[in-house]
Amino acid sequence: MHMATYSKGLEGVIAAETKLSFIDGEKGVLEYIGIPIGELASKSTFEETVLFLWDGHLPKAPALREFTTQVRDRYELPPALEAMLTSLPKTAEPMHAVRTLVSALGMFDPKPDAIDHASLRDKALTILAVVPTILAYFHRYRKGMALVRPDKNFGLAENFLYMLNGVRPTPTMARAMDVCLILHADHGFNNSTFSARSIASTESDIYSAITGAIGSLRGPLHGGANEGVMKMLNQIPTVADAEKFIVDKLTKKDKIPGFGHRVYKSYDPRAAHLKSLAEQLARDTGNISLFEKSTAIEGVMNREKAAKGIYPNVDFYSATTYHCIGLPLDMFTPTFVIARAGGWSAHVMEQLANNRLFRPDVDYTGPHAVAYTAIEGR
Ligand SMILES: CC(C)(COP(=O)(O)OP(=O)(O)OC[C@H]1O[C@@H](n2cnc3c(N)ncnc32)[C@H](O)[C@@H]1OP(=O)(O)O)[C@@H](O)C(=O)NCCC(=O)NCCS
Repeated sequence: MHMATYSKGLEGVIAAETKLSFIDGEKGVLEYIGIPIGELASKSTFEETVLFLWDGHLPKAPALREFTTQVRDRYELPPALEAMLTSLPKTAEPMHAVRTLVSALGMFDPKPDAIDHASLRDKALTILAVVPTILAYFHRYRKGMALVRPDKNFGLAENFLYMLNGVRPTPTMARAMDVCLILHADHGFNNSTFSARSIASTESDIYSAITGAIGSLRGPLHGGANEGVMKMLNQIPTVADAEKFIVDKLTKKDKIPGFGHRVYKSYDPRAAHLKSLAEQLARDTGNISLFEKSTAIEGVMNREKAAKGIYPNVDFYSATTYHCIGLPLDMFTPTFVIARAGGWSAHVMEQLANNRLFRPDVDYTGPHAVAYTAIEGR
């Protein structure tokens, strides 16, 4: 009989093997299949990074061209899915909308349950291609604006901003979006990735796995934190007010959004990259006070004893970055979905290539052998 050990929140438990991303939380290292994240962020594109994660090696030019074309050919939604989207409540959160429509997408697939590698890869490609369209369409629909059809001449990041705002983004903005997607594509066994793999491990379909992952990502302790950061920055009137705001929060033992991480006990390397991107974009777009408030908060967190060893995570500087790119506040976390759709799909494929059903034990702490009391006697 094996001895089960208890770890609340599964902290420190290794539940699977992966070749996709490596994190050294002490040293602040993140690699996708061995390549440091900073290298990919400065040299790759989102499409190339996703193909790299899916195939396990950097693609040669023809393979990347073919993949890019396939993604662009699938940008558009099935008409019935678009009809469904334009009947959602306009007050719905975009995260609820994208979760619902990815789930619905499975019903337009004649073989949603196929889980052989080729079928999974094909379905993942469709999901990757349509998530930006779902989000941009839903945003414009809820604001009463005409939908902007995807443009196959544009890469995924550029096309997303184009469909969202109705104007072609500048090359700097398009590249900034692309870099954000690369940085957010994969991250070990984070909660949403674990959710996706856990669902996939039952041999359910990939649409269910990605739908469940979106549900996980929206939580404020996970992907929802970037919106929390922006709300906090909006609550701080000027740079000079940052100090008191943060100290008051720490005194009340409130968590500061965008700080802390279950795995990183040093600077999150994604945050380092996003910090310089945020600074450049904030200067270019006249939002420097947002960046200055952020660095002031970081300075207070660095100094305060109550925040010792708590560093900015990926969400902290992505808030300023997304704001400067022109994303509405409640599109921050949904934009994370676009990136993670690549990573989640890679994990679903990896899980099913060597599957073992996730089924941890639980420590039962309730009573035993309790007599059943009839309803009239309770
Ligand atoms: C991400 C997070 C859930 C990781 O948490 P965790 O591994 O469970 O760590 P804990 O919540 O147990 O935190 C350990 C200690 O650091 C403190 N701490 C952690 N994050 C903090 C933050 N953002 N602000 C202030 N204090 C924080 C906790 O209060 C706790 O202090 P204590 O030991 O005195 O009680 C947590 O840091 C958090 O809630 N951060 C804010 C939300 C966020 O940015 N999430 C995005 C993650 S990418």
